[in-house]
Amino acid sequence: MSRATAQAPANIAFVKYWGARDLERALPFNPSISMTLANCVSRSTVEVLPEGEADQVLLGGDSGELSLAPASFADRVRHHLDTLRAETGTKGGFRVATKNSFPTGAGIASSASGFAALTLAVTTALGLEFSEAELSVLARRSGSGSAARSMVGGYVELPTGSCGSDPEQDDGSLSFSIQLAGADHWDLRDVVAIVESGPKKISSLEGHRRSLTSPYYKTRQELLSQRLQIVRQSIAERSFSALGPVVEEEAIDLHLIAMSSRPPVFYWNPATIALLSTVRDLRDEGLPAYATMDAGANVHVICEPEYEPEIARRLMAVRGVRRIIRDRVGPGPQLAVEPLF
Ligand code: PMV
Repeated sequence: MSRATAQAPANIAFVKYWGARDLERALPFNPSISMTLANCVSRSTVEVLPEGEADQVLLGGDSGELSLAPASFADRVRHHLDTLRAETGTKGGFRVATKNSFPTGAGIASSASGFAALTLAVTTALGLEFSEAELSVLARRSGSGSAARSMVGGYVELPTGSCGSDPEQDDGSLSFSIQLAGADHWDLRDVVAIVESGPKKISSLEGHRRSLTSPYYKTRQELLSQRLQIVRQSIAERSFSALGPVVEEEAIDLHLIAMSSRPPVFYWNPATIALLSTVRDLRDEGLPAYATMDAGANVHVICEPEYEPEIARRLMAVRGVRRIIRDRVGPGPQLAVEPLF
């Protein structure tokens, strides 16, 4: 039976995807820009099963053991396998195992890395060759918009791919990730303070859905074209002083929208607020550090390499921080990795 293993990284968005014109296909209202990570990765091994056999969804444990995935996870994987079957004209089932190098569902984009790795492993196991753009569209079809960005390394933009107001024309084929700069272009670090390691109570899918009810949704959309321009330019010019403030503003606005949605969504906990305060203290002391968050309580602090050790030390001392993950910009998905079975 044909088998393949792929590894794909998580990413952290500088300009966030929050709110969709089509949630099922994760077609965003606004472009997003992220940095692909190096160490926070998902690995997925996929075996093509004979026609008629049901999908098996497994999780890889720390000591190499495989166990059945919980139903909620297995359902999302099966749903994406259905999409991939439809897109590739395949009928058979798949045996899938996934393993993350970081805690699942806690504000590190495990759906992004997981669906990117799964998409790449399935298409490779089927012996199909897709371009990076096509793989990015397929990964986005999982319903995780950020998965489209995890298909590409370095600094990445996901455009809306919107073409006019006719929903018939808006098939999403133009919303695929584009590399703004490779990982070698600029060595940025992401120090992640983990304050919550269980799965979050409200999924990002539900957060996207509710976001449109926030009175601040429209205001942020109006600010975005300038933010996107600054982020693109600061990446091109490697200007951390230009990039940092926009990154932090964006994260606060995402959570402002979440908190003012109906019903409201609160992802933060007391440690999140303590960390945001520490990051402001660090800046007051002259250490360039800017915070960002995804749909979760954990805080990602973006910085340049020389400040990373001190920032990690200071974040670790904040009450409520369970562990620190030190990551950096990375090169994107990989195929030559060890299989999970
Ligand atoms: O990829 P999704 O559908 O889980 O949405 C991602 C949402 C954020 O992580 C909050 C923002 C982003 O652009 O990554």
